[in-house]
Amino acid sequence: MTTTHRSEERIAFAAETAALTGRDMKGKVVVITGGTSGIGRVAAERLADMGARLVLVARDKSRGETAMLRLRQRAPGLAHDIHYADLSRIAEMKRVAAEISGAEARIDVLVNNAGALFGSRHVTEDGLERTFALNHVAYFVLTHGLRERLVAAAPARVVNVASDAHRGARLDFRDLQLAAGYRGFAAYGRSKLCNVLFTRELARRWTGRGITANSLHPGFVATRFGDESGGLMSYGIRVAKLFAISPERGADTIVYLASSDEVADVNGGYFYKRRPATPSPEARDDQAASRLWQETARIAGIAP
Ligand SMILES: NC(=O)c1ccc[n+]([C@@H]2O[C@H](COP(=O)([O-])OP(=O)(O)OC[C@H]3O[C@@H](n4cnc5c(N)ncnc54)[C@H](OP(=O)(O)O)[C@@H]3O)[C@@H](O)[C@H]2O)c1
Repeated sequence: MTTTHRSEERIAFAAETAALTGRDMKGKVVVITGGTSGIGRVAAERLADMGARLVLVARDKSRGETAMLRLRQRAPGLAHDIHYADLSRIAEMKRVAAEISGAEARIDVLVNNAGALFGSRHVTEDGLERTFALNHVAYFVLTHGLRERLVAAAPARVVNVASDAHRGARLDFRDLQLAAGYRGFAAYGRSKLCNVLFTRELARRWTGRGITANSLHPGFVATRFGDESGGLMSYGIRVAKLFAISPERGADTIVYLASSDEVADVNGGYFYKRRPATPSPEARDDQAASRLWQETARIAGIAP
């Protein structure tokens, strides 16, 4: 996609969003991970434009400060806030959740968005393969850590950024950490399958608490995604991104699920382009969803 096409798309899209989103987010508190880049940054800014107060979870001070500056310029007077954590480490996930819980009396929307694709296998200090840790365990731990604040804001929403990359992926419960063989795209696809399964199980388990949970595929988006995956993979993704959609368009379904009245009562869904989509058969396996929940709770040291 050329630069001219991108800017035309941005202008057309701004009008579309203004016309369609239609929900006033004044007085709402939105917590979002990965709000320093890509679709997370755009979603945070759009929700701030709609009146929401944003609480960012970021890992890098200077990128965090830049994101905060942009938010304050676009939506001043809303006391947006930021907390820092490396979301691939369980202790950090728990610390930042406790910090946010201490600072916020209620959370209306939690957007679990931070994620990455890694070209080589790396094991975190918790003994977890890092794609699994960052892309899945962080969603689980942060959501649990913020549960009481979400309940306090009921009706509240959890929006999990997944991906169509989950299609074709399968979970092997004997080897969730991919010790037997690692391929970057396969690890990524599995982690995104975890996002859809987690969302389904969350919707089922927390029904009746006034919290809905939905996941989405943003499309193939020209963000920093994949830039640090390394070697040929990084190069291949850079080339493919010439044909990707803009972050503005990629963020649209996040904003929609976080704000639209149309989905106020929808729970456990998977969305693409604002429409319900059917995830893969593996992502609709309720037994696997329940087992993944229990296994993740055990790994994270959280009561299931
Ligand atoms: N782009 C696509 O085509 C595509 C397609 C399907 C799904 N997705 C999903 O969309 C989500 C957002 O990705 P994006 O495309 O917007 O990519 P991006 O531009 O690379 O943004 C990723 C965000 O995650 C943050 N992050 C990464 N590692 C982190 C860590 N250890 N701790 C805390 N934060 C961390 C990054 O922080 P820094 O700014 O500090 O790097 C950044 O804000 C991901 O879940 C991805 O799987 C993307």
